[in-house]
Formats: sequence, structure tokens, C-alpha cells
Amino acid sequence: MPSLEAFAQQQLEKLEQSAQKRALKPHFQADGLYVEEAGRRYLSFASNDYLALSHHPKVIAAAEKALKKYGTGATASRLVVGNHPLYSELESALAKAKGKEAALVFGSGYLTAMGVIPALVGKCDLILADKLIHACMLDGAKNSGATLKRFHHNDAAHLERLLKEFRKKHKRCLILTEHVFSMDGDTAPLDEMLKLSDRYDAWLMSDDAHGLITPKASPHIIMGTLSKSLGSYGGYVASSKPVIDYLQSSARSLIFSTGLPPSVIASALAALKIAEPSRAKKAIENAHYFAKKLELPIYNSSIVPYIVGDSTKTLALSAKLKKAGFWVPAIRPPTVPKGKARLRFSFTAAHEKKQIDEVIQCLIS
Ligand SMILES: Cc1ncc(COP(=O)(O)O)c(C=O)c1O
Repeated sequence: MPSLEAFAQQQLEKLEQSAQKRALKPHFQADGLYVEEAGRRYLSFASNDYLALSHHPKVIAAAEKALKKYGTGATASRLVVGNHPLYSELESALAKAKGKEAALVFGSGYLTAMGVIPALVGKCDLILADKLIHACMLDGAKNSGATLKRFHHNDAAHLERLLKEFRKKHKRCLILTEHVFSMDGDTAPLDEMLKLSDRYDAWLMSDDAHGLITPKASPHIIMGTLSKSLGSYGGYVASSKPVIDYLQSSARSLIFSTGLPPSVIASALAALKIAEPSRAKKAIENAHYFAKKLELPIYNSSIVPYIVGDSTKTLALSAKLKKAGFWVPAIRPPTVPKGKARLRFSFTAAHEKKQIDEVIQCLIS
């Protein structure tokens, strides 16, 4: 066996060779629209602060008030002494916003998937998951021990073929998808999937982490994050009351992890209260404006991928934009499939058309 350091060095070299080595550099969001790094300001097309609420004065004031009144941390699991009363206010507001009877807040979106999926299915069960679901759902699915099959991205016909072939061999069946796909910006055919889940006796769970518009069809279980549109931190699941009551006593990532700081819950709650539909509309309009100008596909979301293909070329394009003052992340495998490296543009309610024109000009020049 090599030494620990020799092992790490070998792995780093492999990552370097495949353009997959990542490095953390200190930077911060100056005001929700700009990022500052090493004293320079960049116009950001990278954050998921779609509704531009992370620096809203009312949201900051709510967090400050809670911080001063209740201190910095929850100091224990929600089931011990970390269940601040603001939690139930936030959970009622989330349930209402998602059109469900109840909701449950977790430490993060990742922890939500890691807790919820294994609580619902196990060894004798089946999970059918879209090929492009986020890593947190995939890890939750693997953690559950259920048989995992993947259907082609957004392909309801392929999902049905898998249901026909495998459903009867398992006790319970859970279908996993996303309202809006985080790296592609397209949306799942939830209507069709809901019909299939009813026809084949399965439960549908969708991740609404990047969704700004409530779809017509409502999956049996909706999960999401408080860290993107609400500009805060934490995750949630919304469903019927018995499901949420059951998850409170069974989701391990809820039971064995400390509750969120009260200031984080207060800011999510304040953001939810002022998240007017006009903000989502503007973010989506900005994405459409950009996509139309570049003749890219138009989706009902504020995410637009600019697919380059090769990782090295994508990194070079991101570096060129950065030099010109724009912060646009290069997304590479394994986050996206091999040969599909891209610049991921995310638009918020705070972007102006002139800024979008400027980044387009730099991109195509
Ligand atoms: C689709 C999707 N689901 C879940 C998560 C995880 O949420 P969180 O950051 O709250 O852990 C993310 C990204 O972070 C995401 O893009």
C-alpha cells in the first residue's frame, strides 16, 4: 500500500490530466450580483440567487434579529433541543407554497435526499431515476440499498418500459426526477410521470431545488433547498401529513445532525414571504433573452447551458470571460456527462439586459 500522501498525489495527478482537478479560492458575493476575488469585482452568472433575495434588507434584518435574540447555533439535533419555534413557521409556509399538507426542514438539500430516500425504500424495492438527477438523489438512492435503474433523461416512454419490466419484481417503487435540471435548465414531464406512477403503483419524488414556477402536476414527494431561490441555507421535503410525520422519526440525516442556526431559518422564512412571482418572471425572462440571442433552446427556467464539449476548451472560455470581468463557471465531468462540458449561465431577477448583451458580446468575440 502506498503512503497516504503518495496515494493522494497519484489521484491529484490523474485529476489534473483529465482536467478534473478543482481548487477552492477565497471569494465572496459582494451584493448578490457581483463576486469579489483578490480585490477585483466580477459580474456573476454563477449564483443560484435567482430571486435576488440573498442581500435583501428585510431578509438580512430577519437574520440579524434572530441571531441577536437566539444566538449563533441550534446546539443539538432538532429532536433534542435544536427545534427552534421558527422551524414550524417555516415548514407551514413551505408546505403552503408547495401545495402540500406538511413539510420538514433538513440541514441541507443534500441531507434531505440522503435521509428521505432510504426512509421510503430499501433492499426489496425499486428506484427508477432519471439519468441526470443530482448527485444528492443518486447518493440517497445508493444509500437505500434498493435496486436502482436509470431511465433516459426526461423520457417517459423509457420509464414506462422499465416499469413494465421490473415493477412487479419489487415491493415498493420510487421514481426520482427534478422539476428543473440543474445543469441543463430543462423541466421534467411531471404530468406524464405522475400518470405512470399511479398506473404502475409507484411513488413520484421530484427535486424542486432550481424550480421557480409551480408545475401543474404535483409529485407525491417534493424536495428542495433553501439555499438557492431563498438565498439562505437548508433543505426541505413536502408531502402529506403522515409521510412527514413518519420522516420525522425515520430520516437519519434529520435525527443524527444538528438543527440549523435560528438566523438561517429566519432568513429563509423572510425570503419566502417576499418572493413575489414578478421576481421569478424577471429571472426567467433574462434567461430567455440570452438564449434567444444565441439561438439556444428555451426552457421554463433561469438556467441556460452553453455546451462546449471539451473540458479544456470550456475552462479556457470561462477564463476568457473572467479576464473580461464576468464570472461564469465551467462545468465538467463528472458533474455532467463526458464530452458535454459547458458554461452554466444562471440568471437572476437582478440582471439587466445591458449586462446580458455585454457577456454575449464577449462570449462570441
Ligand atoms: C438539483 C439539486 N438538488 C439538491 C442540491 C443540494 O442542495 P444543498 O446545496 O442545499 O445541499 C443541489 C445543489 O446544491 C441541486 O442542484
